[in-house]
Order: sequence, then structure tokens, then C-alpha cells
Amino acid sequence: MTENNSKKFIKRLSDEVGDFTVSLDLDVRLYEYDIRGSKVHTEMLSNQNIITSEEKSIIIKGLDQILLEIKSDSFPWDPTLEDIHMNIESRLHEKIGTVAGKLHTARSRNDQISLDTRMFVKDACIEINNLIKKLQKTIVDLAENSSNIIMPGYTHMQRAQPVLLAHHLLAYYEMFSRDVEKFNNAFVEADIMPLGSAALAGTPHPIDREYVAQKLNFSRLTANSIDTVSDRDFILSFLFASSVFITHISRFSEELILWSSSEFNFIQLSDEFTTGSSIMPQKRNPDFAEISRGKSGRVIGNLISLFTILKGLPLSYNRDLQEDKTGLFDSYDTVVSVLKIFNKMIKGIHLKAENFTSAAMESLSLATDIADYLVNKGLDFRESYSIASSISDHSLAISKPISKFSVDDYKSFSPLFEEDVLQINIRTSVESRISFGGTATQNVLSQIKIARKKLNE
Ligand code: ARG
Repeated sequence: MTENNSKKFIKRLSDEVGDFTVSLDLDVRLYEYDIRGSKVHTEMLSNQNIITSEEKSIIIKGLDQILLEIKSDSFPWDPTLEDIHMNIESRLHEKIGTVAGKLHTARSRNDQISLDTRMFVKDACIEINNLIKKLQKTIVDLAENSSNIIMPGYTHMQRAQPVLLAHHLLAYYEMFSRDVEKFNNAFVEADIMPLGSAALAGTPHPIDREYVAQKLNFSRLTANSIDTVSDRDFILSFLFASSVFITHISRFSEELILWSSSEFNFIQLSDEFTTGSSIMPQKRNPDFAEISRGKSGRVIGNLISLFTILKGLPLSYNRDLQEDKTGLFDSYDTVVSVLKIFNKMIKGIHLKAENFTSAAMESLSLATDIADYLVNKGLDFRESYSIASSISDHSLAISKPISKFSVDDYKSFSPLFEEDVLQINIRTSVESRISFGGTATQNVLSQIKIARKKLNE
């Protein structure tokens, strides 16, 4: 198709259906991948004697010029040309004439868009994982710097048992490690080279798909051309990883919001991440954490959206698939921006050590330790539990924390209590939890070491 013909073809469609089919505003951001893919495809066509090496040089030179035009903002975008592929191809016609028509040999936009998107997803996974690792490092630093702070650990949002703040923080390190794995999985899925599937059936030309894969850093080739042009599972995987990640961010945000409230008063977020109220001068609203919590809605929505697009879609390529990019780009943008700012926010957190500790002391969080104490004195756990529970009730009734109980207070509940019961405190409680994965300082410090080693790999 000559340049004029191709324009006419697209224009006719465009006039009929208006802006509805245009995807340029979205897929324009794939231009670098599109040009890189086209250049390697051109080299391959020449290697295989499908085009001459002279034609190859002309096409590649043209593509390079186009790349510069786009980068320098002088490219004449034409939305009536529908998408990024047609814009570049049409411009190539303008620049080098009919030779441009040879570029699209043995290729279709159906495998081309798959290639571009796979390249985008691969880079996105690498970038996001680097950012997640930076955030993890910040968390590990914070954990290490606060490794002597004890806080009440919660279950059911009730104070349960004393734990190290560092242990609590490292729970987020673990969550983010799983996210890194998920983005790695999405990378592996995207890392399969689709070009050469053409429209859906493959091509009669003697192409060399291995060459293209190797030059574009793909590990494997897609094996079924029909599946290739209709597969968007790798985007689902990316959107799933993004959704789990943003869910973790949302949970973390929620805790930071609670902890910075007057009710908890555990932390203070730096001014940069809070805003005042126009009417209440005392307010410091944790806006950034709130917005991060809220962003989970759209990211999870993007996953559901693509599922809904794919569900019931017959083979092979259908134009519905063009709708994949809205959510893909939106989730990517959201995840990247949240990650960059979240990292800064965590770095700027002020921890109120005394408030963590006094909350742990005031609470009934030693009740389990009292029960375990009686077990060590020979009582069975159920009976020990019942005595510890009476002590808790009593402590509540007289508003006296267990940490302030005397030996006689204890003895009134069981003759098994001796002087050494007074050694039970939040510190001994924490340090007794030496089971692997437990909150004892020695465990937590060795987890910090392991985490640092992993992050440096
Ligand atoms: N803009 C399209 C997409 O994103 C590119 C492929 C178009 N293929 C076609 N036969 N119209 O899926």
C-alpha cells in the first residue's frame, strides 16, 4: 500500500466512526518499542533476503530519523491514522517513499502490538521491582533503627501480645518480597517473542524469528500464532501483581493513618506528606497515605476490567483487545508514582518510641505470658489460661496494668506464683518468642541481615 493509499484506507474508517477507534493517544507511548521492533524486523528481512540490504539501510535510517523527530517533539502526529504503528509507517512513506511499504512484510499490526506491549511490560516489571526494592530498603533501615522499640501487637484490632516494632515493619518487607516475585512472574510471561505470527496464521516468508527474539532480548518464541495475537494473559499477570502490590500499600497506608491519629499517637508523618485543614488549625491530614489507600480501587479495577474484556472473547485477534492499554498504563503509572512518594514518606516518619512502649505496657498483653508461666510450673494450659484470664479481668476491673501487679496480687489467684513472676514484662515476653519467625530480638536482627543480603544481590 502506498502512503496515499494507506492514508485513504484509514481516513475512510476514521470518517465513518469518528474518534472512537483511535488509540494513538494511548499507544503513542509505545513508540520506542515500536521503532526498535521495526528496526530488528527490517534487519531480519534483509538477512533472509526478503528485502535487499540497501532497502534495509534506507528503512533503518528513516526509522532513526523518525525516532529523533518524536523525541524532539517535531513529529507530525495524525490521529486520523489511528495508532502508533500507522503513524510511524505513514511518516516513513513520506520520508523514504515506496520502500517503506516493504517494512510491513511478514508482519501485521496484530503481532506488532503484542510485541510492543510485551516489551513495555518487561521494562515496567524491572522498573517497578527496582522501586519496590528501594522501598524495602527504607523499611529495613527503619526496622533496624527501631529494633529496641516494643509495641502492642494486634489481632482483631485488639492489643494482643508485645512485639518488636521492627518485627511489625518487616511484615511489610515480606509482603513486598512477594510482590517482587509476582512482577518477576509477569516479566517471564511477557518475555516470549510474538513477531512472525502475523495477522493470525503465520507467514509464507522465510523469516527468522529466533534472530528477532535474540536481538530484542526475548527468551523464547510464542508457539501458536493464533494464541499469540489474542493472548493478553501477560498483561493480566502484570495487573494482578499491581493489584496485590497496591493492596499491600493500602494496608500499610491504613496503619500509618491510624498510627498518626491522636487515638494511637504512635508516629508523626513529616509535614510534606500531610496537609492542614482550611478551618481546623490543629489538623494534619495524612493525605498522601489516604490517597495511596484509595488508589487501590482503580488498580484492582483495571485487573477486573481486562478480565471482563477477555472473558468470552473468541479467537483470535479482536479489536476489543485494544482496550487493554488503558488499564495497563494506568496501573503502571499509579504503581510507579505511589512507590516513589511512599518511599520518601516512610523515610520521613517520626516514631514516638515512648508511646509504642507505654501502649504495650498498659495493655493486657502479658496475659499469655502469665499462662505460659503457670504451664512451666506444671499446670495444664487450659487451667493456666483460665487463671490468667481471671487476672486479666481483675486488672481491667481495678484499672491496674498487670505490669504493676505484686507477688501477693498474683498469689491471690494461684499458689503456684512465686517471686520470679515479677520478671515477666514486655521485654522478657518479646525475648521469649524465639521460634523461627517469632519476634525475639535475635530473630528479628537475623531477618534484617538476611533482608539486607537479599536486597544487595
Ligand atoms: N491499536 C491496536 C491494538 O491496540 C493495534 C492492532 C490493530 N490491529 C488491527 N487489525 N486493527 O490492539
